[in-house]
Amino acid sequence: MVTVSRKAHFNAAHRLYRKDWSFEKNDAVFGKCNNPNFHGHNYELIASVTGEINPETGYVIDMKILKDIIKKEVEDAFDHKNLNIDVPEFENLNPTAENIVVVIYDKIKSKLDSKLDLEVTLYETPRNFVSYSGK
Ligand code: NI
Repeated sequence: MVTVSRKAHFNAAHRLYRKDWSFEKNDAVFGKCNNPNFHGHNYELIASVTGEINPETGYVIDMKILKDIIKKEVEDAFDHKNLNIDVPEFENLNPTAENIVVVIYDKIKSKLDSKLDLEVTLYETPRNFVSYSGK
């Protein structure tokens, strides 16, 4: 098995809070991230696809196909958006890095051949990052 990876980037705003909690409780749990006027991040992601090398093409996956999936499913959907307001997946889901990486994984995975494994790593800051591989 070989793993091929592609990096991507998007800018987005968010606010971490639960609609069913008081402002005080949200403030205690989420601190500055509960700012009602939102704040932004320069998100970086790495999508890694693992599978057998196709003996005919020599590819695990054509990078152009992976690039196009990431563009459509992640960049076009999230870049320069307010995740809480503009992205339907977060209408009732707190847009933490953890929840964002799961949403991104599900969107990319649904477009891949089922024989391929996927891992997504999402950097919310250069030092804070999360990973998800469907387990
Ligand atoms: Ni944040």
